[in-house]
Amino acid sequence: MEQKKETLLEIHDLSVSFRMYNGLLEQTDLEVISDLHLTVRPGEIVAVAGSSGSGKSLLASAILGILPPNASVRGHLHYRGEELTPRRQAQLRCGEIALVPQSVAFLDPLMRVGRQADGHRRPRPTEKRREIFRRLGLPEETEGLYPFQLSGGMARRVLVSTALISDARLVIADEPTPGMSLDQALEALGMFREMADEGRSVILITHDIDLAFAFADRVAVFYAGTTVETAPAADFRAGPQALRHPYSKALWQALPQNGFQPIGGFQPYAGNLPEGCLFAPRCPCRTEECRRTPPVREIRGGEVRCFHAT
Ligand SMILES: Nc1ncnc2c1ncn2[C@@H]1O[C@H](COP(=O)(O)OP(=O)(O)O)[C@@H](O)[C@H]1O
Ligand SMILES: [Mg+2]
Repeated sequence: MEQKKETLLEIHDLSVSFRMYNGLLEQTDLEVISDLHLTVRPGEIVAVAGSSGSGKSLLASAILGILPPNASVRGHLHYRGEELTPRRQAQLRCGEIALVPQSVAFLDPLMRVGRQADGHRRPRPTEKRREIFRRLGLPEETEGLYPFQLSGGMARRVLVSTALISDARLVIADEPTPGMSLDQALEALGMFREMADEGRSVILITHDIDLAFAFADRVAVFYAGTTVETAPAADFRAGPQALRHPYSKALWQALPQNGFQPIGGFQPYAGNLPEGCLFAPRCPCRTEECRRTPPVREIRGGEVRCFHAT
């Protein structure tokens, strides 16, 4: 029997809510992530796919402990077997876990980008940084520029370089490729692949799901703040018959190269979620049963939250 590999990051039953003020004194808790599961093993790229607003960036913030003060988190979050307490998260942010933030506003406006990309490492990893800049199409003089002198695409490549230069054991890359040419995106993902092949791990949050399928080991599909399916990336490369959840199949079919078939309807808003299965109102397979919340089931080496998946 295949031995189960150790996990680096283990998250289950994660929920994130925000305290919102409706009026002067009225306040409510808006749950934007619920029952979310994700595991990451050493040497793995786990891609996180899902439409805008499905909770991908909040997951990154919850792992790193950088949610806004009006957010509250519940659930099981363990990193290398230890609970992710605020104190542990603060330590891990100092180098062990690196974030490629979704917004380029994270760059320090007052620091030249070469120094910024080197981080706190001494001696400065100048050679390694120049090699990574070169591979991502950043001319050498970029190192002397300030963030305001960069285009959006260059700024994103600097942020990606910063994570690649670091010695982080886990990189969380939140939409790293927008603004890059296809060649640059392939190069960036290729470097994440090299990192993973050295035994480090990457959570790759992305809209470019066809690229993610090519480079990742596993894919987690998010919908309305929860994980609906986690499957080997090979299943996403194989096509809808290998997938388990109707939403994953629909995502696949919505890709331009697979027929561009749009999914009817909208992802529900956190304050107005349907009862039971969150995808049911848009699902071609829905039945009466879907009024109840489906449990997570293991099917063909993947996990799925659907009564009808086979
Ligand atoms: N600070 C906040 N206060 C209230 N709601 C928020 C806040 N940040 C994010 N949300 C909501 O949480 C949901 C998930 O957001 P996010 O994780 O940023 O989505 P994405 O998958 O696009 O990265 C969205 O509906 C968003 O409106
Ligand atoms: Mg996001």
